[in-house]
Amino acid sequence: MAALARSILVTGSNRGIGLELVRQLAASPRPPQHIFATCRDPKGPRGKALQELAAQHPSIKLVQLDAVNLPSIRGAVRAVGSHLKDQGLNLLINNAGVSSHATLRSLDSREMLSAFATNVVRPVQVTKEFLPLLEKAAKGVGKEGLSCSRAAVINISTKLGSIGLCLRAAQNMVTRCMAAELQDKGILCVAIHPGWVKTDMGTEKAPLMVEHSVQGILMVLASLSQDTSGAFLDWEGNTLPW
Ligand SMILES: NC(=O)c1ccc[n+]([C@@H]2O[C@H](COP(=O)([O-])OP(=O)(O)OC[C@H]3O[C@@H](n4cnc5c(N)ncnc54)[C@H](OP(=O)(O)O)[C@@H]3O)[C@@H](O)[C@H]2O)c1
Repeated sequence: MAALARSILVTGSNRGIGLELVRQLAASPRPPQHIFATCRDPKGPRGKALQELAAQHPSIKLVQLDAVNLPSIRGAVRAVGSHLKDQGLNLLINNAGVSSHATLRSLDSREMLSAFATNVVRPVQVTKEFLPLLEKAAKGVGKEGLSCSRAAVINISTKLGSIGLCLRAAQNMVTRCMAAELQDKGILCVAIHPGWVKTDMGTEKAPLMVEHSVQGILMVLASLSQDTSGAFLDWEGNTLPW
């Protein structure tokens, strides 16, 4: 099977679903040439698991990226651009996220705004800054149709409902709008719900192992095409209502 994409960037890759995405991509039989594993503090103690993984796989490049900090995002774009030289970035996975368990009774505007910044504003801001690199990949010679191997933006989202998580409805709307705009540039855009996964966010109570969720997500990514651009899918490829 061909590599999913020549170059892939994952945000929030120091733990949870992001770390497992990087692990499985690097260990795949046809790994991407460049896996840009980004997180807030790649050199610090929170990046330890990622540092250990990168030491085993030369395809993994650690890049600092705080998804709500514009200078940090721009620094990451420069670092990625200098690795890729004249090539573009094929696949951007907006995975970094925070959960909010707020209900109408417990609602705290600061928590809501912080969750909104990380979960809704950041995929747009990160995608906007990486757009020139994605467009460069989309224009690659002999490429037709939409696919992750050409150029794509994947927003890891959620179908779960609570007032805090309803902020993600806003993220899903953003995916839909991005897909419509990016289609003409040859860039696919999809939102994916990873399931309820055993991670720090999903907690031990979650039924799904992170390995299984990520195996499913990677299979779904490989199957994406023009027909699924703008879709909201789960980790098993089922279409979810917006
Ligand atoms: N687990 C589930 O059941 C579940 C269900 C539905 C959707 N999701 C979504 O799946 C994605 C990954 O979730 P997870 O379960 O892996 O969560 P997790 O274990 O809590 O990990 C979250 C990751 O996001 C990073 N992050 C948070 N804010 C960031 C920022 N401003 N800039 C860069 N990185 C940031 C964290 O980095 P630090 O270590 O620096 O904090 C961490 O790497 C999230 O978008 C989440 O909403 C998860």
